[in-house]
Amino acid sequence: MSTSATPPEGAWSGRFSEPVSEIVKRYTASIPFDYRLAAFDIQGSLAHAAMLHHVGVLSQDDLEAIRRGMAELLEEIRAGRFAWSLDKEDVHLNIEAALTAKIGDAGKRLHTGRSRNDQVATDIRLYLRDAIDRITAGIRACQSSLVDLAEAHADTVMPGFTHLQVAQPVTFGHHLLAYFEMLARDAGRMADCRRRVNRLPLGAAALAGTSYPIDREFVARELGFEGVCENSLDAVSDRDFAIEFTAAAALVMTHLSRLSEELILWMSPRFGFIDLADRFCTGSSIMPQKKNPDVPELVRGKTGRVNGHLVALLTLMKGQPLAYNKDNQEDKEPLFDTADTLIDTLTIYADMLRGVTVKPDAMRAAAMQGYATATDLADYLVKKGVPFRDAHEVVARAVRAAEGSNRDLADLPLAELQAFSPVIDDDVYAVLTLEGSLAARDHVGGTAPRQVRAAIARARSRIK
Ligand code: ARG
Repeated sequence: MSTSATPPEGAWSGRFSEPVSEIVKRYTASIPFDYRLAAFDIQGSLAHAAMLHHVGVLSQDDLEAIRRGMAELLEEIRAGRFAWSLDKEDVHLNIEAALTAKIGDAGKRLHTGRSRNDQVATDIRLYLRDAIDRITAGIRACQSSLVDLAEAHADTVMPGFTHLQVAQPVTFGHHLLAYFEMLARDAGRMADCRRRVNRLPLGAAALAGTSYPIDREFVARELGFEGVCENSLDAVSDRDFAIEFTAAAALVMTHLSRLSEELILWMSPRFGFIDLADRFCTGSSIMPQKKNPDVPELVRGKTGRVNGHLVALLTLMKGQPLAYNKDNQEDKEPLFDTADTLIDTLTIYADMLRGVTVKPDAMRAAAMQGYATATDLADYLVKKGVPFRDAHEVVARAVRAAEGSNRDLADLPLAELQAFSPVIDDDVYAVLTLEGSLAARDHVGGTAPRQVRAAIARARSRIK
């Protein structure tokens, strides 16, 4: 049966006597940004239509018309030929109107038993599931770059820092594997979040469910969801899954921001530990000699906007009564920008790590400068029976003496060292070398090159 019910010219529906003003139309519309959900919106609609037919609410002919119309629309949207209209407010109404223009009444029947409230929640979850999968691949790519670089530098000595002061020697490979671990936890957080994203809101309709004999499990299966949202009010209203995604994203960015800070420091001539490939740097418009690490600086900077999106989403949610409120339309821009920023950052980072040139001589020279093996001397004394606190004091005095004469501990002649403690023998020089210090830390999680190689092998199998 055909109907010809149309609202008064320009008004939202027959319920309204006048259209919204131009500025209100712009203010309330989400089409300028939610058009990006189009493919997911169509995917959700096709699953909904298949279910309506399955339970006997939609005819075979209508289902076929919907499938045909949607295939054409998807084609037009992908080719950039679809004309998005502000008058149609959002992606859902745009697509429904275009479908109806193509196939007539079957298009108008699609919205049976559903609301834009459960529709948009479904679209966002489909979008986010896809984004998480791409982000996870990006994290893996960065981890793989880190492991490759770590393997090439499993023996390369650098100073390890605490308080940004030289502390103890570590290998550059060991240092890089620290970031591998951070990213491994990030991937775990994304996987964990994905399980909660991957649930079906459809069927909740506006908020209370629907009077049609729907089969939600059917739709969930069609869309690859692991299950349905159990409560209709919750299904349309909460965006906690988007908030936890953004929190996980903020942590990824935070980890990459820390690494960026190190790359920037290391590339400064004051350190001179590394160089970045030219394709990640730019020059200065006034100082011809400059080569600036723009990409790591921007990663550090963009971490701020992702952190901001997390706060925006938390704030968006905190005052909302159940169930759906239009506030939730504001979830999209922070979410899209978070995913875009993260995907780009990870893609660039995986490549940038492959373009790092390491300068082992500069790293070694820096490790030689800060009495990095002082702890090793203390440990040596302990092994000869000196209590640790006394050994600590003996070495502190030796360091002070060496510093006064601008020498390293290893430069002090045996007689001079023995003046600090008689138990010192000429086997002490083996522990005062950087290599001796590294090799001594020979346990799981330690920096001995042997352990770093073993950690690299385990890391590789963890990202396979
Ligand atoms: N554009 C809306 C959003 O993004 C879709 C849901 C609108 N629902 C409503 N009852 N106005 O949240």
